Amino acid sequence: MDPSYTRDFLWYKDAIIYETHVKAFLDTSGDGVGDFAGLIEKLDYLEDLGITCLWLLPFFPSPLRDDGYDVVDYTGVHPSYGTLKDFRRLVDEAHRRDIAVIIELVVNHTSDQHPWFQLARSAPAGSPERDFYVWSDSEAKYKGVRIIFTDTERSNWTWDPVAGAYYWHRFFSHQPDLNFDNPRVLDAILEVLRYWLEMGIDGFRLDAIPYLVERDGTSCENLPETHEVIRRIRADVERTYPGCMLLAEANQWPADVRPYFGDGDECHMAFHFPLMPRIFMALRREDVEPIQDIMQRTPAIPESCQWGLFLRNHDELTLEMVTDMERDYMVLAYAREPGTVLNVGIRRRLAPLVDNGRHRIELLNSLLFSFPGTPIIYYGDEIGMGDDVRRPDRDGVRTPMQWSSGVNAGFSRADPAALYSRPIDDPVYGYPAVNVQAQLRDPSSLLHWMRNMIRLRKQFRVFGRGSMEFLSAGNRKVLAYVRRWEEDTILCVANLSRHPQPAELDLSEFAGATPVEMLGYTPFRVIGRDPYVLTLGGYGFYWFELRQRG
Ligand code: BGC
Repeated sequence: MDPSYTRDFLWYKDAIIYETHVKAFLDTSGDGVGDFAGLIEKLDYLEDLGITCLWLLPFFPSPLRDDGYDVVDYTGVHPSYGTLKDFRRLVDEAHRRDIAVIIELVVNHTSDQHPWFQLARSAPAGSPERDFYVWSDSEAKYKGVRIIFTDTERSNWTWDPVAGAYYWHRFFSHQPDLNFDNPRVLDAILEVLRYWLEMGIDGFRLDAIPYLVERDGTSCENLPETHEVIRRIRADVERTYPGCMLLAEANQWPADVRPYFGDGDECHMAFHFPLMPRIFMALRREDVEPIQDIMQRTPAIPESCQWGLFLRNHDELTLEMVTDMERDYMVLAYAREPGTVLNVGIRRRLAPLVDNGRHRIELLNSLLFSFPGTPIIYYGDEIGMGDDVRRPDRDGVRTPMQWSSGVNAGFSRADPAALYSRPIDDPVYGYPAVNVQAQLRDPSSLLHWMRNMIRLRKQFRVFGRGSMEFLSAGNRKVLAYVRRWEEDTILCVANLSRHPQPAELDLSEFAGATPVEMLGYTPFRVIGRDPYVLTLGGYGFYWFELRQRG
């Protein structure tokens, strides 16, 4: 760890996070799998893009039956990706560019190949070793608890012939849940935490955090005992590495996510899961209501906390946090192609979700960058990469980064048959058409546009820290909101319709101010007492800085 490296404790509030998997970024060893050395080589690209935090998907030793979320050793790295030394070098090199690094803490479950599980299944019933996991003689325990991977699992219990008992798992049956009623489990996890923190990382995504503790007669989600575990984790981090950020993956309704911030004594950040599908719904319905409704139902959070905002990630576009009717609508609107629905969600990347519509991609990113929270970009979405719904599980959205139109998309020099995954090669989204090299050369590319937006966003702390109020635009297709923080006031107006739309805003509160359009620094008409009239092109948006006279 570089001793000269320091960070403001609230760094995550102004961050731009980039999510990627080591395996998918760049392969330098030529074995067909991306590695740490490749990621290091591409840090200049990420710095140039403007991101300030790298979120790495799991890179630990694993049988890879759940892309690394099935961990067998929490303190190592999978040999395909390099060595611990390479990982340390990555952290140092990222820090040299002022890029923070956050990693996964897969806290709810391990692989069934993990030595803890192997020990547990043969240890005597009731022993602390056996009690590392959750066992039962019958499947009736915790009856009614929902199944998450509905396409593969029929029960949250699986029979283990070695132990002669059932073990509990909220995800795949090869991922037994750890038992947080056993104090040794938390001790072991805290050791893992300290181990990585000592290597200088800046935070953890706490995977599948709502499911840590089980109790009969409950949904086994969001229990007070689970929050107690998180408070203990936070207290430990606070004592040893203040400034380390904890990001909750709690796919829950806003009111149930709110407790994961606690009184500022649980997680620093949490993903805003319900917002994401509603952005897509609002776009398809050309109606601001789903967005306004969910934002109005989003409770206030402690001053030091932050929402994590995203459009797409490495999983399916989850539809767990919508009503049945909304789910039907989303499937009809976005998942007509056979094979697109997976579990309770849609396995697509951003560009194909919006039929590769450049204006829609820009509009959605403008919301991502201007809503209250920290934006998270999924690798490849900055160039509009596509997907392949015919591949198993979520593999179709985890394909190699498309660097160039050369062999293997410039990702690897391995024999194509040796690649961990074939790059996307269809005529629209394939690497000959969509790649970084071409987009760097093309000043009108999506990549350039993203770079500019990130630069702009970083100049205004109000986006990461300010309040948000919706204004009526007198038109249900136009979303208008004001962001304020300290001296800064920004007005955002977004047209969710494919056709031009008028907007009439009551801006009398800002009378005398000049709205300066932020992409071109163009001053618009001074605001008066009368309704402020704007016209927006199809899927158009404005960001205005409201400048007071004098
Ligand atoms: C991760 C998934 C993973 C699951 C089970 C989730 O929170 O995002 O990719 O499959 O945990 O490990």
